[in-house]
Amino acid sequence: MDSMISIIPQPTRLHATGDALRLSNQSPLRVDPGTPEIISIADYLCTELRERHRLMLRPEAGAATSGISIILTTDPALATDGAYRLTVSDNGAIILAGTTGGLFYGVQTFLQLLPCEPGQGNDVIVPGVEIVDQPRFGWRGMHLDVCRHFFPADFIKKYIDLLARHKMNRFHWHLTDDQGWRIEIKRYPLLTEIGGRRTEADGSTYGGFYTQEEIRDIVAYAERRFVTIVPEIEMPGHALAALAAYPEYSCTGGPFRVATTWGVFDDVYCPGHDATFTFLEQVLSETAALFPGQYLHIGGDECPKVRWHGHKPCQDRMKEAGLKSEDELQAYFVSRMARYIETLEKRLVGWDEILDGGAPAQAIIMAWRDVRKGTEAARSGHDVVMTPMPYCYFDHYQGQENEPKAIGGFTPLEKVYSFEPIPPDMPRELARHILGAQGNVWTEYMADTNHVEYMAFPRLCALAEVLWSSRETRHLPGFIDRLRHHLKRLDNLGVNYRRLSD
Ligand code: ACM
Repeated sequence: MDSMISIIPQPTRLHATGDALRLSNQSPLRVDPGTPEIISIADYLCTELRERHRLMLRPEAGAATSGISIILTTDPALATDGAYRLTVSDNGAIILAGTTGGLFYGVQTFLQLLPCEPGQGNDVIVPGVEIVDQPRFGWRGMHLDVCRHFFPADFIKKYIDLLARHKMNRFHWHLTDDQGWRIEIKRYPLLTEIGGRRTEADGSTYGGFYTQEEIRDIVAYAERRFVTIVPEIEMPGHALAALAAYPEYSCTGGPFRVATTWGVFDDVYCPGHDATFTFLEQVLSETAALFPGQYLHIGGDECPKVRWHGHKPCQDRMKEAGLKSEDELQAYFVSRMARYIETLEKRLVGWDEILDGGAPAQAIIMAWRDVRKGTEAARSGHDVVMTPMPYCYFDHYQGQENEPKAIGGFTPLEKVYSFEPIPPDMPRELARHILGAQGNVWTEYMADTNHVEYMAFPRLCALAEVLWSSRETRHLPGFIDRLRHHLKRLDNLGVNYRRLSD
């Protein structure tokens, strides 16, 4: 039924009034105040109305008595970041918020009230509603691995736009790994010249990277959609692509090749040499300059210590710094990088292994091996992003049969929807450390963008609701009903989602 109101993620409070607003090319669109940031939000709405509904509106500053109004307010009830109120009546639509992010999310909800079918040039009817809404969590994230397979800049934009349409606000961009280095670093051109390509078993070359110009363009695109990009530069492990280019930062000196198989490799960055830290600091410094967000992710997962064990400079480093184990040497590595990241005025993010041996106090921990790692991190005072494998790994299978080859695991839509980022046994005083959660898309078995979309959707829709909607509004059958309708929107956006099982 196309007139059904089906918003994903479900708003905090929604009342259907029975009114109907008729929008035509003559309807006014007013913004107040008419600042560039708010006009940019109105422009996003106008583009959507034009491209999907064939309505030609233009934003103007001032108050409106009909049509659409987008208004920034000082009402304390709407001060929470991302909160908004949307009223649609016979007389007009009003989006009110205390933050520009709230106005943007009000626009997203408004767009989901419009018909799913592309416009035919007629007036558009919008059902009357009173909606009051705000996010439950501040970190509503999706990750994408562009190393195992590479995806062009246009797809990164599409992915970010799809996040924003689901009111998600963090894009974790996994830019370096054993199988490819994907970010241009001007000071170290071989990172992309050598590390950006691999020679496959059949002799063919596979590769790609993002230029700094492309990255700046993507960052600006994400900013207009209230998405903060969290770039990840992996260390000390998952570093073979970098070491193929600059083997002097390993323990053995190489030579190395960019990996063509999946897994965990023993050759990692060497913490015995100061030069390794200088190299990584310079890489992080260029990276930080490209991304205005406050986060720098330095990986930290799955780092074998075997090379450090047998390497004199590493052992000397341990003696000199009073370290009792190679785990402590990894902690030394991370805390040395943390001190540098502080000088860049960024916040370090790392996978939960950085807890082993003690993580720097300010670090945000991504709990992936187990939610208990998140609890452990919160207990030691860290902020946490939950991303546990059984619920948040969208490289797992989503059906029992006829699925394309995946890495393993079984994480169907319903399982994602059942996820609770705050573990039920977590003491209340620790819960404030849970910033939110994130879905991870590791792409070993996803060779093209169609396949990425298939694995991400509709699981992303479920996670978006987990992260935005209040616990009380979550209800699986209701979600599935709304999702059936929402999938038509994804059709119109050209998304290759997995069909629902009947
Ligand atoms: C991870 O999945 N290795 C963080």
